[in-house]
Formats: sequence, C-alpha cells, structure tokens
Amino acid sequence: MTIKDYLKDTISNCWALGHFNFSENDALRAIVESAAELKTPIFVGVSENERKHIGIKETIALVRAFREEFGIPIFLNADHHKNFEAVKEVVDAGYDAILADFSKLPFEENIKMTKQSVEYAKSKNPDIITEGELGYVRGESKIQTEVIEIKPEDLTKPEEAAQFVKETGVDLLAPAVGNIHGIVTNNSGTIDIQRIGDIKKAIGENIYLVLHGGSGLNELEFKNAIEAGVSMVHINTEIRVAFTESLRKTLQEMPEETTPYKVMAPSILAMKKVIAEKLKIFRSVNRL
Ligand code: G3H
Ligand code: ZN
Repeated sequence: MTIKDYLKDTISNCWALGHFNFSENDALRAIVESAAELKTPIFVGVSENERKHIGIKETIALVRAFREEFGIPIFLNADHHKNFEAVKEVVDAGYDAILADFSKLPFEENIKMTKQSVEYAKSKNPDIITEGELGYVRGESKIQTEVIEIKPEDLTKPEEAAQFVKETGVDLLAPAVGNIHGIVTNNSGTIDIQRIGDIKKAIGENIYLVLHGGSGLNELEFKNAIEAGVSMVHINTEIRVAFTESLRKTLQEMPEETTPYKVMAPSILAMKKVIAEKLKIFRSVNRL
C-alpha cells in the first residue's frame, strides 16, 4: 500500500498514523521495533537540526536498512523544513515526505513558498507526500515550564485552510488547533476538536490533517481529534524525555559502566514503551 492508501484508510477506519522523530540510531530502532511488533506502518521524521546531526545520506541509508530488516512500511519525512534550499536538499536526497513549514510568514507568503516547495518536490518525485503548515503552533520539543498562551489569531481558520490547500497543492495540512510543541507543564488549554472537524470539512476528503505537538496530550484528546479528522499524529518530546531520563538513571546506577550499548539498552526500552502506548491510542495496530 502507498502512503496515500494508508491515509485514505485512516479516514475510512478512524485511526491515525504515528509520526515519531529521531536524531540517532537507537531512537529509530525503538520506533521501528515498536511498529513491527504492533504490525503497523510508521512515519519517522527529522527536523532540520535532527537531520544535520545524523547526516542526510545516513538518514536515507538507515531507513532503507530498517525497512529491509523488519519488512514493514517506514516512511521518512523531512519535518519542519523552513527554507526552500533545505526542502530541495531532502527532495533531491529521496525523502518520502516533506513538511515545507513557512507558517511564520504572512498568509500570502506562506502560500507562495509552500507552493514553490510542492511544485519542486512533485517535479522531482510525483509520489512524494507534501505537507504545509498554517497557523501558529507555539513551543518547541522540550519540557516547558513557562506559561504558553495561545492567542485566538494563532488558530487556523477553516476558510483560509481551504484556500491554502487549493493554492499550494499540499497533500497534508498541519493546522494550529490549540496544540503546542513540547510537554507543557503550565497550560490549561486544550485541543479545539470542533475546529479540527470544521477544517477537515473545508479542505475535503483527499487532503489529510496532521496533528503536531502530540506530546503531553491525553488519550481522550487523541481519540476526539482522530474522530474529528486527524490522520497522523507527531510525537517527539516524550521520546526525548524517555531517552534522557532513562540514560541519566542508568549512568547513576552504573557509574563504572563504559560500554555504550550497555548504557543505551534501557533507553531503547523506555522509548519503545512510549511509542507502543501511542500507537495503541492512535488505533494504529494491525494495519499492515
Ligand atoms: O513535528 C514534531 C512534533 O510536532 C512533535 O511535537 O514534541 O510536542 O511531541 P512534540
Ligand atoms: Zn511539529
């Protein structure tokens, strides 16, 4: 099945694809092992900085190797690529999907740059999946203790979403619907489910919604968001936290240990636990 087939299926059967970020081999292994155990297709993503840390060729080679080893569909996404040069680089390298994120720009400029990215990507690879972002998703993928206030003007308007997808030609849309990047310890806001439904209705059945900032959301929020039309959920911070918390604990418990794969082993298990929990909540089990 192609990515589009899976996306279509998320709507017909009310589930969501999991998209998990990685910045080194062990996180990628944790994502793939969890997906293989639960028999589900999976998106793996790297932001510009995550990609730079691993290396562009290395991300491609690693994903290819994991596909061969585990025999499940693994799709590589260039997550939040924020300038045209960076988009070109990943398209030329052979990524399966891109998020051309020009959401910081004014509406018309965002449309122009996203459209340019989509046209370039599709001219190089007609099967590539393209995503644009509209609205302001605040925060970054870390634990955030400061108060993050979402302003009404941050949120994506359904009529603008319809115009955006029509003019840019994206396959996927990342809206701002009360979601925040990171685990926010000081925020009482919640996901605007009504808005997700309205945006989905406005963009139509062949364009799919991606919920960013999945870390810290609860099961009911995911359930309602998926029922309202979300086809993919991004998780990053919770994996980072599982990794580093476990590593700190291990280093404390085994101060004499110097073998990297021994100190890393508990971190892989901790990440797998988080990933498996999310895949079950997204109803993304047995979807191959
Ligand atoms: O693109 C990445 C995601 O939106 C991650 O968000 O760090 O809140 O899980 P998160
Ligand atoms: Zn994101």
